[in-house]
Amino acid sequence: MKVLVVGSGGREHALCWKLRQSPLLTRLWCAPGNAGIAQVADCVAIAAEKVDELVAFAVANAADLVVVGPEAPLVAGLADRLRDAGIRVFGPSAAAAELEGSKGFMKDMAARAGIPTAWYGRFTDIAAAKDFIRAKGAPIVVKTDGLAAGKGVVVAMSEDEALAAVDSMMGDKVFGDAGNELVIEEFLDGEECSFFALCDGKTALPLVAAQDHKRVGDGDTGPNTGGMGAYSPAPVVTPAIQAEIMDTCILPLVRTMADVGRPYAGVLFAGIMVTASGPKLLEYNVRFGDPECQVLMARLKSDLLPVLLAGAEGRLAEIHLDWRDEVALVVVMAAKGYPGAYDKNTVIGGLEAAGGVEGVTVLHAGTAMTDGKVVATGGRVLGITAIGATVAEARERAYRAVDRLDWPGGFCRRDIAWRALARRG
Ligand code: AMP
Ligand code: GLY
Repeated sequence: MKVLVVGSGGREHALCWKLRQSPLLTRLWCAPGNAGIAQVADCVAIAAEKVDELVAFAVANAADLVVVGPEAPLVAGLADRLRDAGIRVFGPSAAAAELEGSKGFMKDMAARAGIPTAWYGRFTDIAAAKDFIRAKGAPIVVKTDGLAAGKGVVVAMSEDEALAAVDSMMGDKVFGDAGNELVIEEFLDGEECSFFALCDGKTALPLVAAQDHKRVGDGDTGPNTGGMGAYSPAPVVTPAIQAEIMDTCILPLVRTMADVGRPYAGVLFAGIMVTASGPKLLEYNVRFGDPECQVLMARLKSDLLPVLLAGAEGRLAEIHLDWRDEVALVVVMAAKGYPGAYDKNTVIGGLEAAGGVEGVTVLHAGTAMTDGKVVATGGRVLGITAIGATVAEARERAYRAVDRLDWPGGFCRRDIAWRALARRG
């Protein structure tokens, strides 16, 4: 089978690394890919947002399956265009991807499906939004309706902070048109996790849960990022909690999306807050998490290719998945300055030595090859992924690999999986 993966991050490297192991695979392309992906796939110089060019490439090369990594091309209709062209695709339609493209739509679907989640209001008027905040009081959460690169969320501990967020998002339009509409919702207290399920429009197959580290600094301090590290399993998600998440947050959504004529096919990523009264939905994303995907792929024993193909063909009910019992953990290495301004094109050495540590795979997120050297091209640059019998072993291996790198321009958090370690005492 000939497969095209769309995207260029650590998530896409993890997907390509896993697909490369499939005995069914004959050809693997990645558009546009990166220097690490180039070791396992043929990189094609088409950006992930170039829908017309991606469809033309898939048709011209008779791709048997296209796997779409990031949300932007899905929201822009890449999956629809591929299906119209007769190409099998793993990823939701634009109508279904609105779950991530519009937080208001997502909340309306969750309400219709009876999913446990924060109460909310949708607003297009500044005065009405402020009245709602004054009536409800703090803590309260203010979000832009549209995509704001993960930054359009203010968890306000005071009423003044929430009112100021309304002014900056809707008044000053600091996130542009994403702030034309706001969602204001209940603050949920608890332990957060990322849960994933594969969907084919009719049914859903649970993957496993992971925990991410969104803040840039040790001890969960500093600004939010795309994710500085992750691990799986997530101890907070016991088998009973996983079953409850499937029954209350995943399957009712799949049924409701089919009922409203927007069947959901692709991976569904539910951000969950495990509260004192059970798991509650924070949000849906229409793609794998990054860096959560890296640890999911490290733990998946089954061949990924027939699974994604079954997702694309509506046959997930036939699929059974096997997982490794080990813990997988990823430490993200970012360019100094991230998530603010950072230098590009710094040279990264020691990659082979790092990859030589037992149980470690070095996944690339933002790299390119220049004059025979690997250079950093993005904010998040590498994902040092390790497997181990325990959290402590996986973590020790990952940081041993980090210490073998020669990259003065990079940094990482040193406390990935602190929650899981604290639980074990
Ligand atoms: P989002 O972009 O919706 O994932 O929000 C970013 C982060 O804000 C989430 O990962 C949570 O840590 C936090 N957050 C979002 N919504 C809520 C909520 N209703 N209550 C508490 N924290 C929240
Ligand atoms: N790591 C969180 C995300 O991919 O949105």
